Amino acid sequence: MEPVRVVRHVRDMHRVADRMRMDGLRIGLVPTMGYLHEGHASLMRQIGRVTDRTVVSVFVNPAQFGPGEDFETYPRDFERDLAMVHSEGGDLVYAPSTAEMYPDGYATYLEVERLADHLCGASRPGHFRGVATVVTKLLTAVKPHVAIFGQKDAQQTGVVRRIVADLNLDVEVMIAPTVREADGLAKSSRNRYMTPRHRRCATVLYSALQEGRDLVQEGERRASAVIDAMRRRVTLGPGVEVDYITAVDAEDFRPVEALGDSVLLAAAVRFGESRLIDNIVVETERRAVKEIR
Ligand code: PAF
Repeated sequence: MEPVRVVRHVRDMHRVADRMRMDGLRIGLVPTMGYLHEGHASLMRQIGRVTDRTVVSVFVNPAQFGPGEDFETYPRDFERDLAMVHSEGGDLVYAPSTAEMYPDGYATYLEVERLADHLCGASRPGHFRGVATVVTKLLTAVKPHVAIFGQKDAQQTGVVRRIVADLNLDVEVMIAPTVREADGLAKSSRNRYMTPRHRRCATVLYSALQEGRDLVQEGERRASAVIDAMRRRVTLGPGVEVDYITAVDAEDFRPVEALGDSVLLAAAVRFGESRLIDNIVVETERRAVKEIR
């Protein structure tokens, strides 16, 4: 297998991307903040099936962290990331520095209206402005034909799709199912911050969502009843704090009283140092759960 190429500068990334496109190669992008895990490996494998070259971006984006959040302590291990990209058959890692992405005088940020107002957008002001800005910069640097994102970040996928549609970006957005541990916990780089006790407690996140899903599938349409049932599942204890547990419209993330055809059950709960998110989409009309494992 060829060694993985590392590109650090945007001008070099443009040159390499242009060359790949001139050679008729389809480029796939897996945007990440590094500290890669099985969820990212799964994204690499999926995009590798539909493109000729897999580019993985590794950039911990300061613009999407609020004051007091975990930007400084976010786990980083570039050598380990490179090894995983290599073992998954990835071709190139785009790893710009902060100064490369946001040089002195940088002043341009992207705001996505409405979609970013709810859920994580409400509890992490400015988060989606940072995500929208960096994803757009990564797309313009790497020039992929396809970019892939995980369903675990449901609101992020909605924001990215909106940007691509509104700015007429010539890229296909693929959404991949959430990859889970054997006990259902969604894989996340932030899982590593948890103490063993919080790690055990964290399984309630997915079981609460499953309970909500079962209720909706049994015909419950009152959002409040579904939300109450999910909340009851999450036992609060030392260091366990609910940010939100809710049932919203899956298209625009608006809170609804009566659940419609497409429902997003979503939760963000803090277990000690780790704020974990997870979700399930339930298509009520067809009574089929869209979440694929
Ligand atoms: O999902 C993530 O890891 C990040 O939000 C992303 C898309 C790489 C942007 O920094």
